[in-house]
Amino acid sequence: MAFYRAGTGGRKQADFDIIWFRFRVSKLYILVYVFSNIILLIMLGLESSSISVSSRANGIGAEISGVDLSNSLDDKTFASISAAFDTYRLLIFRGQDLTAAEQVAFSERFGRLEDFPDPKDQADGFKTVLRVTNIDRTTGGIKPVDDPGHKSFTLGTSSWHIDSSFRKLPSRASMLYGIEIPEEGGDTMFADTTIAYDALSEDRRQELHKLTVIHDFEETRRRHKLPPRPPEVQAATPPARHPLVTQRENGRRALFIGSHAAGIDGMSYEDARRLIDGLAAEASKPECTYRHKWSPGDLVMFDNICVMHQAMPYDLAGSRRLLHRTTVAGNQPLAPVD
Ligand SMILES: [Fe+2]
Repeated sequence: MAFYRAGTGGRKQADFDIIWFRFRVSKLYILVYVFSNIILLIMLGLESSSISVSSRANGIGAEISGVDLSNSLDDKTFASISAAFDTYRLLIFRGQDLTAAEQVAFSERFGRLEDFPDPKDQADGFKTVLRVTNIDRTTGGIKPVDDPGHKSFTLGTSSWHIDSSFRKLPSRASMLYGIEIPEEGGDTMFADTTIAYDALSEDRRQELHKLTVIHDFEETRRRHKLPPRPPEVQAATPPARHPLVTQRENGRRALFIGSHAAGIDGMSYEDARRLIDGLAAEASKPECTYRHKWSPGDLVMFDNICVMHQAMPYDLAGSRRLLHRTTVAGNQPLAPVD
């Protein structure tokens, strides 16, 4: 309602009120009103169904919030997570509460999962969920440190490696979910080889593009002076050949290396070892790495083409540690680059 005051000021107010009244009945006002409400609705709609993605400062990985992975994800939320994974290669979800079945359901959104054939390694009877742990499943107590299986697993995972790089079709991703976490130690280090590749000179890249690496699970055991696995077990995962440099679908190039890398075609073992170890050292510099300090309820998902990882030490005899791992199987060979 207009409020008229005496004198010049009152006339100016009256003029303003007339202009405001004419504007309110004009088509322009209606258009502005309707448009602003549509924008508001869109924003509210996005808010209610979207997740929050916060990239980490050094460009390795992103934190995802606003999603409960125990629920089945709607297509829009899954598409957002999938796009974030493509961009950041490592995703951190905190505060989750997942059964093995719920972790499987989330992981399977990305594709078929790899099996872990040994029943004593499986969580809650799921052949696709690996217990990463020092806890004996049957007794519930901490395993002896010199238990052969436990010792080889601990040594193997302490090296920079890529899960399943020894398979003909390398896996696409692993999901690690923290359940029991030591007070100290037991962190996981991640190294992003796309960042290491980007830092190489053009000449060096051209040299590496030509190389094919042999990946063999037995190589990790040999380097840790562990006895070979039985022939029938080895036969299930024979050595595989992959390009040293591969290109992701999004155009990013990566060094496909890790502790299972056992040699390079056309090169002596010693020369290959020196080259692979040198590249691993470059890829594990601080500017390429992220150290995850676990809390119960964390789920970390990482790309198994361009992210190496290693487990850090903890008190194996005195601290309990239990994580569940799922791994998305590969569906195509790695693409070489020109
Ligand atoms: Fe691993």
